[in-house]
Amino acid sequence: MEKFIVQGNTRLSGSVKISGSKNSAVAVLPAVILSSGTVQLENLPGITDVHTMIKILETLGVLIRRRGRDALELTPGNLSNLAPSYELVKKMRASYYFMGSLLARYGRAEVPIPGGCDLGPRPIDQHLKGFTALGATINIEHGMINLSAEKLVGAHIYLDVVSIGATINLMLAAAAAEGRTVLENVAKEPEIVDVANFLNAMGASIRGAGTDVIRIDGVRKFSGARHTVIPDRIEAGTFMLAAASTGGSVIVEDVIPKHLEAITAKIRETGATVEVEPERIKVKGIESLAPSDLKTFPYPGFPTDLQPPCMVLLTAARGLSVITENVFDGRFNHVDELKRMGARIKVEGRTALVEGGVPLTGAPVTAPDLRSGAALIIAALMADGESQINEIEHVDRGYDNLEQKLVQLGASIRRESESDYQEQAGDLE
Ligand code: EPU
Repeated sequence: MEKFIVQGNTRLSGSVKISGSKNSAVAVLPAVILSSGTVQLENLPGITDVHTMIKILETLGVLIRRRGRDALELTPGNLSNLAPSYELVKKMRASYYFMGSLLARYGRAEVPIPGGCDLGPRPIDQHLKGFTALGATINIEHGMINLSAEKLVGAHIYLDVVSIGATINLMLAAAAAEGRTVLENVAKEPEIVDVANFLNAMGASIRGAGTDVIRIDGVRKFSGARHTVIPDRIEAGTFMLAAASTGGSVIVEDVIPKHLEAITAKIRETGATVEVEPERIKVKGIESLAPSDLKTFPYPGFPTDLQPPCMVLLTAARGLSVITENVFDGRFNHVDELKRMGARIKVEGRTALVEGGVPLTGAPVTAPDLRSGAALIIAALMADGESQINEIEHVDRGYDNLEQKLVQLGASIRRESESDYQEQAGDLE
């Protein structure tokens, strides 16, 4: 177990380079399996979710060579193993993409029920409904999802729920199905477009990604390709919110501003300044922020992943802000921890009432999930005094070099591990 020790009363200042998108990278990596050539991937973030994906690919038999800090060369060849292990799959949600990619290439897959952040119920019924429509037979027993199809055949599929995971999984399977698939009511996130671009670079025929209807003409063979993962809009948004929350001045670099419009608009509503240039955004905080209401929605709405850090920003805005979480049932895990730091927040169902303007105080807290962890770090930077943030393994899953990037912006944050404490205890003996 590791923890961050963070000193408060910090105004972040300087510039920070944004890494490749986690949610794109964890979909593009399993998609590599479709290729019968060699794939070059660039701008992969150095996060544990990506490391886990790489380990799963290696255990399946994909040959992987490192090409610098953020690039890999992958040759899937003919896989020796089509069953990712429970030990690795339980660590992350995106392991569900092996259902789509293995089904597409081999007509069968055996994937343990996936893990990931605890955000309330996270069903995968839309993924399974789509695979069935494409001709797969599915059996779930002993914690395993077994999928098989003599052949996949294109179909017309209407998703009941707008789901990123289901949209990508069905694109993967349909890319190799016989004939045309039409996916309706799909997610429009930039990560969907990135994965579609990668699949098309390997020879797929996918049109409409980024709109709510995707048309796919299945192909039999996928070639090698070169692909650069898009910047992580959630990492960028986290730094933008951290800048505004700490009254600092930060330039986020290597971003696609179009992907950040909902966050830009929300930060401006609080009175902070946001200057947008072609590949970078500058955020400058102000002394007295205004409250603002927030509702999360699928893209292009305000992303649920930035709701926890945005709640922290709103604790600094004098007055009442109302936050409505529309995507996940249980995404207020951070509230009790923020209350330990003095925040005044009341949760009623899917709504949180934030009475802002009460200064936060440093405290020991625990990161309940990835984005809540990021929110607690921002709160610790704003608070008076020192905070300890426990269980930061959650944060390592999705933020590349977070503490180094924060230190570069002037933060005092250091990592301590359980063994540091054991050594300290040993010194006393
Ligand atoms: N849903 C269903 N049935 C399904 C699939 C989804 O009811 O078959 C529901 C979910 O319960 C949820 C909503 O649909 O209420 C949206 O879920 P979605 O499938 O879009 O989420 P996901 O694919 O499991 C991805 C990201 C999450 C992000 C959400 C929402 C990845 C690997 N994960 O999850 O990222 O919060 O979309 O934008 O792409 C994170 O990065 O911290 C993270 C949790």
